[in-house]
Amino acid sequence: MQVRLTTLCENTAGGIGFTGEWGLSILVEAGGHAVLLDTGFSDSVVRNASVAGVDLSKVDKIVISHGHTDHTGGLRLLLQRLRKRVEVYAHPEMWGKKYIRVVLPGGKDGLFRYVGVPFCREELEGLGASFNLTGEPVWLNEHMVTTGEVPMVTPFEQVDDNMYIKSDAGFVPDTLPGDQSLIVKTDKGLVVVLGCAHRGMVNTMLHAQKITGVEKIYAVVGGTHLIRAQQNQLDESIAALREFGVEKIGVSHCTGLPAAAFLAREFGDKFFFNNAGTVIEL
Ligand SMILES: [Fe+2]
Ligand SMILES: [Fe+2]
Repeated sequence: MQVRLTTLCENTAGGIGFTGEWGLSILVEAGGHAVLLDTGFSDSVVRNASVAGVDLSKVDKIVISHGHTDHTGGLRLLLQRLRKRVEVYAHPEMWGKKYIRVVLPGGKDGLFRYVGVPFCREELEGLGASFNLTGEPVWLNEHMVTTGEVPMVTPFEQVDDNMYIKSDAGFVPDTLPGDQSLIVKTDKGLVVVLGCAHRGMVNTMLHAQKITGVEKIYAVVGGTHLIRAQQNQLDESIAALREFGVEKIGVSHCTGLPAAAFLAREFGDKFFFNNAGTVIEL
């Protein structure tokens, strides 16, 4: 079975004609199924699909990794283009009132910027979205399963402390319980496609092993959230990737340049930078 991953939104453009936009969206095709993980920040999925020659009408399911704007902001335009009923899989926390605390110049903080879904649920449902909200893994077809909620088990991965949820009690820390990824089961091992991995890349991979009962992780692609990682976390993550037997690592989005450069040096030709327009066939 051939697996094809086409990155339709990423912070940077991977070739002429593609649009870079802070966010992520990866089209995952396997066994005749086409599932879109995330939808980018605005219109880049639609623009880049046309540049890449991808017919979006084949998308039969959408998985939302988490409710941040840079992963959900393309949903409305996408639904308007698809003009059909689409099953959307997410954690109920997708609809949490999500904020990021912004530090102002001079170290003064106090600005809470809204970073949640920029649409109301009813509007998206009116455009064809049918929301399946659960914290459990969901088998989308015989090859692909969502992770659902990812347990925090490694000692070296933490959720960012600048994320908040607005509740009746005010702003409370957001532990991103809704952060999930997409797993593809292949003959070579698992392919783990990450949104932002707010709960930790290694935690996500360990959970993928547990859900599928498959030890070997052949590839990991997407947002690793190593952007704020200290050296200790990078070292531990690299050790874990080696232990999983990862043969392809394609980082995107919230990986950050220093971590990406470090991984590139460590993994040599197993590494690639997965940006808008990247197509990988496994
Ligand atoms: Fe995020
Ligand atoms: Fe993100």
